[in-house]
Amino acid sequence: MSTPIQDDVFVEATSALPASAGTSQPPRPASPAPDPDRAVAARTRQFDNARLRQDFADQGAFLYLDDFLAPEVTAQLAQSARDLLVEVNRNYLPGHKQGGSVSRHTIDRLAPFIAQLYRSKELIGWLEQMSGDRLQVSPADDPHAYALYYYTRPGDHIGWHYDTSYYDGRRYTVLLGVIDESSCRLDYELHTRNPDIADQPGSVQIPPGGLVFFDGDKLRHRISPAGENEMRVSLTFEYVTNPNMRPWRRFISNMKDAIAYFGFRQVFRQLMKRSGDTA
Ligand SMILES: [Fe+2]
Repeated sequence: MSTPIQDDVFVEATSALPASAGTSQPPRPASPAPDPDRAVAARTRQFDNARLRQDFADQGAFLYLDDFLAPEVTAQLAQSARDLLVEVNRNYLPGHKQGGSVSRHTIDRLAPFIAQLYRSKELIGWLEQMSGDRLQVSPADDPHAYALYYYTRPGDHIGWHYDTSYYDGRRYTVLLGVIDESSCRLDYELHTRNPDIADQPGSVQIPPGGLVFFDGDKLRHRISPAGENEMRVSLTFEYVTNPNMRPWRRFISNMKDAIAYFGFRQVFRQLMKRSGDTA
């Protein structure tokens, strides 16, 4: 059996914590968080959802909307993203990836609104309508379930890749624009896994409140490098059609996350907690 391995696995990484690391302060109290279900429903009921469903299918399981989130939701996310700057874990994989991330485990502690939005029945229902699949939230130990990605230093980027599913079913990605004071673009190629349709390149700069939704195994994509004095933060949600993962794939997935994204402490602390180890 061959195991799909993304090209960012097993590359030596250097981790550079931001200069402010270790001075973590609790987030400042923000204005009352909006109700995620109500905010999502207020937007999605204005859309021509039949047409969007057709667009998603025609584009090989890909959809881009430049104005998806309600403004109060975008504002809440941007505030959380700035509050969590001190929590960013930076990674550098030569030639492929440079940037920062905050995993779901940190979000759970410090920005619970994001976790509520991730689980919003209105959001999941709309994504199911677009994809035609029954979607489930990712298992509790998957740090990609919801995560913030930071492009804050010159050259921060991620090279061409797929969001490969290590699960038994499909893995869908939602990418939400949170802060964009940058020249970074999402470059992508549609239909690369469909031999009957010619590859179709595209490129978007995702404004705050914008949404990208795609099947991770079908969309080849990258984020182009940030320039000087730029800042971009995006929020990604991952949903699956079957949360089961075979042990070998689980190992590969954990190693990739530890090396390429969140650091060994984040990933393996959760695993040890699960196995009853309190270290
Ligand atoms: Fe990706």
